[in-house]
Amino acid sequence: MMRSVLTGTGSALPVKRVSNAELAERVDTTDQWIVERTGIRFRHIAGPDETTATLAADASRAAIAAAGLAASDIDLIVLATATPDQTFPATATKVQAMLGIDDCVAFDVAAVCSGFLYAVQVADAMLRTGVHARALVIGAETFSRILDWEDRTTCVLFGDGAGAVVLEARDTDTRGILATKLHADGRHNDLLYVDGGPSTTGTVGKLRMKGREVFRHAVVNLAAVMGESLALAGLTIADVDWVVPHQANARILDATARKLGLAPERVVVTVDRHANTSAASVPLALDVAVRDGRIKQGDLVVLEAMGGGFTWGAAVIRI
Ligand code: COA
Repeated sequence: MMRSVLTGTGSALPVKRVSNAELAERVDTTDQWIVERTGIRFRHIAGPDETTATLAADASRAAIAAAGLAASDIDLIVLATATPDQTFPATATKVQAMLGIDDCVAFDVAAVCSGFLYAVQVADAMLRTGVHARALVIGAETFSRILDWEDRTTCVLFGDGAGAVVLEARDTDTRGILATKLHADGRHNDLLYVDGGPSTTGTVGKLRMKGREVFRHAVVNLAAVMGESLALAGLTIADVDWVVPHQANARILDATARKLGLAPERVVVTVDRHANTSAASVPLALDVAVRDGRIKQGDLVVLEAMGGGFTWGAAVIRI
């Protein structure tokens, strides 16, 4: 059976790491409030020379090297972001140029924090048609650029970064993406959005969020979509070695795991050091757990995320 096999992961973070105590010098907050309510201790913030594209290119180089490939082997780039370098062209084409790839298919996907899951499903479908052979799937963001640094209810929650994976089309019935499931419900625009855009205000805008309401939807939707994706693969939560969730809030991760009856030690957690990096958070956490040896070939891994829209989704992968 033709499947998309994950053969390499990579990630990149801005050089500058900012602690809760440093944020407390800028806005009315405390390390204790942030840790207790979110589990976040640090986030990385892009400097003037670091952009969504530069972080994405660094993560991509690491993923391509881990897969044992050259950049020229890549024939498809799908990049998930809500913070592109420019309104157009797609940041994926900028990354393509940075990697020195002469010709391939390259485009962006916008589904905010679920963007990487959307990108994975799109790339998986394109690989399984046989039209493409090796895809680079990237989640990359510089949310620090769309935060209102006067709003303590949002600015403490997010960070910048990028993660990437290489997916290769292979005829196999053991490894690869076994199932994906995506959802969107556009009625919830006003709970998590950016108050600008080219077609409305003509400005980039800032992130706005009703955190408590997002939290409530997140736990219900994430538990449900993980169950749906596992059912599509003919598996149950008992078969899962690792869950790599979107890293928004440690309390969301705990509540979702409890709802599913999932042991907390099976959940990869990086929110403490990266905060919420939107589309980058899942591939960043995946790369951390692959590189520290927790996730190994043969493991059954579930990826999940939810974000603005709302959009949400999950993917079941045999590594
Ligand atoms: N520092 C100190 N106090 C803060 C604060 C901060 N950074 N941010 C908010 N507060 C205050 C609020 O003003 C409020 O004070 P009040 O009771 O006097 O009005 C109090 O803390 C509680 O605020 P509330 O919003 O009810 O807290 P919460 O327990 O819901 O936690 C979030 C807030 C944002 C951490 C939480 O709702 C959350 O994580 N939501 C999901 C967000 C998310 O995942 N978004 C991305 C999805 S992709």
